[in-house]
Amino acid sequence: MQRYGQLTGCAPLPPRWALGYHQSRWGYGNEENLRRDLRGFQEHNLPLSAFHLDIDCQVKHRSFTIDPQRFPRLDDFVQELGNAQVKLIAINNPGIQFSRQSNLCLQGLILNAFCTYPDGELVVAPVWPGRTVFPDFTHPRVRAWWSQQFAYLLEIGIAGFWNDMSEPATFVLWGDRTLPQVAQHYLEGRGGDHREAHNVYGLLEAKAAHDSIREFQPQHRPFIVSRAGWAGLQRYAWTWTGDIVSTWEALRQTVATVIGLGLSGIPYSGPDIGGFSGNPTAELYLRWLQMAAFMPFCRTHSSITVEPRSPWSFGEPYLGIIRRFLQLRYSLLPYFYTLAWEAAQQGYPLIRPLFWLDWQDSSLWEIEDAFCLGEALLVCPIVEAGARSRSIHLPKGRWYSFWNEAMFEGGQTVEVAAPLETIPVLVRAGSVMPMVEENRLILHLYPLDFGESCSHLYSDAGEGYGESRLDCFRLIRSEDSLELVWEQQGNYGFSYAGIQLHVYGLAVTQAWIDGEATLIENRQLNCSNFQRVRFAIG
Ligand code: GLC
Repeated sequence: MQRYGQLTGCAPLPPRWALGYHQSRWGYGNEENLRRDLRGFQEHNLPLSAFHLDIDCQVKHRSFTIDPQRFPRLDDFVQELGNAQVKLIAINNPGIQFSRQSNLCLQGLILNAFCTYPDGELVVAPVWPGRTVFPDFTHPRVRAWWSQQFAYLLEIGIAGFWNDMSEPATFVLWGDRTLPQVAQHYLEGRGGDHREAHNVYGLLEAKAAHDSIREFQPQHRPFIVSRAGWAGLQRYAWTWTGDIVSTWEALRQTVATVIGLGLSGIPYSGPDIGGFSGNPTAELYLRWLQMAAFMPFCRTHSSITVEPRSPWSFGEPYLGIIRRFLQLRYSLLPYFYTLAWEAAQQGYPLIRPLFWLDWQDSSLWEIEDAFCLGEALLVCPIVEAGARSRSIHLPKGRWYSFWNEAMFEGGQTVEVAAPLETIPVLVRAGSVMPMVEENRLILHLYPLDFGESCSHLYSDAGEGYGESRLDCFRLIRSEDSLELVWEQQGNYGFSYAGIQLHVYGLAVTQAWIDGEATLIENRQLNCSNFQRVRFAIG
């Protein structure tokens, strides 16, 4: 993965808010419907980071439009969402309506920006806005022109863009549902046809969107989601698993797809929670969300042809469980963000196959219904209706339950409980899990049997390109004690109001913070800055 990252590039750090929960729907249609859902999130005490606008919010499905009749004061609305800490993301498709009524079309014609047949005739094919023409993103001039189009939306505060249909998809009735193979492309001056350009089309469209944010909002980190791409897409965009159906099989398939994308260098992806086409049962939606809470891109999205879907659609007891999972997701952000930093540095995906931890154990090679989030967490989604437990083959080493006091020895298959309230999540021995609760840093300490391990915590402002810090926590287990040694690097200030340490799996009787004896209750210790905490094991 490191070498592949060197070759194709690593995903830059996303803005931190993007690691929160996203809510989307094809069918919001207008500002009032979004406002109603925003109130829903607030009334149900559910966290939310972003809403996505789909093509139904545009004027006749035209890119770079948001219908002013249905979003009469978009600038105020973006501000209103901003006050609630919610970002707005807008969709765009590459195809431009082929019409003299479309300024974008006229500009593109003047620039000679659209793909043609070898005889110079424009390639025109049906997509959402009707007869459309296709910008040739393999031309730097076309990318620069495309980048300009985002400026006014960025100006009013749209935080990111969703590039859909970027294969590019067309609604032709036969053959490949994309551009004809003979369509001509500039290919950075070399010239060629769509057979060669097809895979880089979506990649370069994503680059144009990404470069636009870099140019017009240099203080912000780009957030782009792209349906299509190729090697290197991670430099510009996230992706998702596309228009999946609302079935248990599709839920299960998400795991292999997200792992596969990660191993292909694309660390940020996730599913339409609940599936795109279809109405999930309450249980299916819940199980899907429980899984996606541990995936990089955590977004509910659905087709205009199905029932509107939000985290409270299914009432209790589902809502309460979903609330706990979404809140857990936000508590885990220090961990997610540290993994994002690792992805940017090393090219490692956030979601990894189990064999990442022990490639020699061949029983891990084909596991497609569980995944690791970083090196510390092993997540076992429930992918079957009615299942209240499941089995999992654990990589070697000791594993702690994330939910209770249970412990498991690795290198064997175990059966783990999965009541509706949880999916099995296990923590690898040796991990220090950083979590946040009300601006307090909670360090969950999962000791090894014996020996030393090291975990990192990366922090910065969550946006922009300023200072950062790296906290390294060494956990040292000996016969009669457990020690936590804290090493700090970097110039970004420590932003938490306090620290709480939780010890798992050991009866700790006493603790010393930098040599000073202190009380410890319920294996929890409150402290502030320290260099070394020592726990006596009872
Ligand atoms: C495509 C996208 C889907 C979107 C729809 C309408 O099918 O994959 O996510 O909702 O188009 O824009």
